[in-house]
Amino acid sequence: MKKSILMLSVAWSSLTASAQQVGLKDVLGKYFTVGVALSTRVTSDGDAAADALVDRHFNSVVAENCFKGEEVTPQEGVYRFNAADSVVAYAQKHHLQLIGHCLVWHSQAPKWMFTHADGTTVSRDELIRRMQSHIRTMMGRYKGKVFGWDVVNEAFEDNGEYRRSPYYNIIGPEFIEIAFRTAQEADPGAELYYNDYSMSKPGKREAVCKLIRQLKKEGIRIDAVGMQSHNGMDFPNLADYEASIDSFAAQGVKVCFTELDINVLPSPQQFSGAGIEQTFEFQQKYNPYSKGLPAKVQQQVDDRWMAFFEIYRRHASQISRVTLWGLTDKDSWLNDWPIKGRTNYGLLFDRNGQAKPVINKIIDLFN
Ligand code: G3I
Repeated sequence: MKKSILMLSVAWSSLTASAQQVGLKDVLGKYFTVGVALSTRVTSDGDAAADALVDRHFNSVVAENCFKGEEVTPQEGVYRFNAADSVVAYAQKHHLQLIGHCLVWHSQAPKWMFTHADGTTVSRDELIRRMQSHIRTMMGRYKGKVFGWDVVNEAFEDNGEYRRSPYYNIIGPEFIEIAFRTAQEADPGAELYYNDYSMSKPGKREAVCKLIRQLKKEGIRIDAVGMQSHNGMDFPNLADYEASIDSFAAQGVKVCFTELDINVLPSPQQFSGAGIEQTFEFQQKYNPYSKGLPAKVQQQVDDRWMAFFEIYRRHASQISRVTLWGLTDKDSWLNDWPIKGRTNYGLLFDRNGQAKPVINKIIDLFN
C-alpha cells in the first residue's frame, strides 16, 4: 500500500511540476501568437532570468523603443542600428516572431522628419519623400526578419477625428495610404498593421473600420489592426471592447492586442488611453501600493485579467496575437506614466520575475 501511495505522490508532483513548466505559448499558442515587448536591457544584456521567462512563455517579441524613429535615426541619413540589430539577433536566438514597432508615429518621430536644418517646416512633397525613405530604410534592412510592422501608430483621436499630427497637417489624411502602399512595396512578405489605443471607443472604432475599407478599396494591403489595450481597472468598457473586435474582424482583418497591460493604480482624474503626453505631479495618494498589493486588490486585478482573457478566448478565431507590453512589473512603463516614480503592477510577472498565480488560471481557461 505504502509503495503505491509513494508512487502516486511522485507521479502527482512530477505532473504538477510539468504543469508549472507549461508556458503561456504552449496553451494559448494553439489559438494565437503570444508576444512580449522587451527593452534593450533584456535583449542586449544577457539577463538569464528574463531569457528563461521569455523562452517558456512567449513566441513573439517587439522592441519597446529601439525601432522607433527618434531612437534609430538621430539625423537625416544617419541610422544607429545596433540596438535594433540586437533585438533581431535576440529574436532569432530565442526563436521569436519579430514585430517592428513602429514606422510612422507622431510621438518619438525622427527629430529631423518635419523640419529643415534652418528650422523651417518641410513641404508636403519633402515630407512624403522623407517618410517613404524611412519606411524603405527600416523595412529594407529587416526584410525577411520582421514578421509584421506597425506601419502607422495612433493617427486618430478617441472621437474618430484625425489626430492633427505633423504628418496629417503637412501631407493630409492620405499620409496613411502612402505609408501603407510604401510598406507593401518595401517588404511584400511582411504583415502590415494599423495600431492604436482606446480602440474600444466607438468613434475611433468607426474611423479605423473606414480606414480599412478605404485601404482595401485602393488595393493596399492591411493584415490586422492592433488594439494596444493599455487597460485599467475601470476602462475600457468590456462590451465596447468586444464590439470593436467584431467590427474590425468584419472588415476582413485579424485583430492583435499589441500592448496589453493593466494600470492598477488610481489616476488623478478619469482618463483612459495611453497618450504619452499625459503626465501628472507625484502625490503619495496616487501611489498606494508601494509596499505590495493587498490581497483584496490582487483579487480584483486577477479578476480583471480573467475578464480580458475570457474575451480573447471567445474571440480567438478573430485574433492573431496577444502581446504583453513588458516582461515584469519592474520593467513596465506604467511605473512612470502618467505619474513618474510609482509602483505599479501592470503585467503578468512580478518584480522578482515570478509568474503571478493568475497565469495558471489563464492557462486553464485555454486548456
Ligand atoms: O533612451 C533614453 C535614455 O538615454 C535617457 O537617459 C532616458 C531619460 O530621459 O530616456 C530614455 O528614453 C526613454 C525611452 O522610453 C527609453 O526608456 C524616453 O524618455 C521615454 O519617453 C520612452 O518612453 C516610451 C514611450 O513609449 C515613448 O516612446 C515607453 O518606454 C514605452 O513603453 C511607450 O510605449 C508606447 C508605444 O510605443 C506606443 N503606444 C503607447 C505606448 C505607451 O506610451
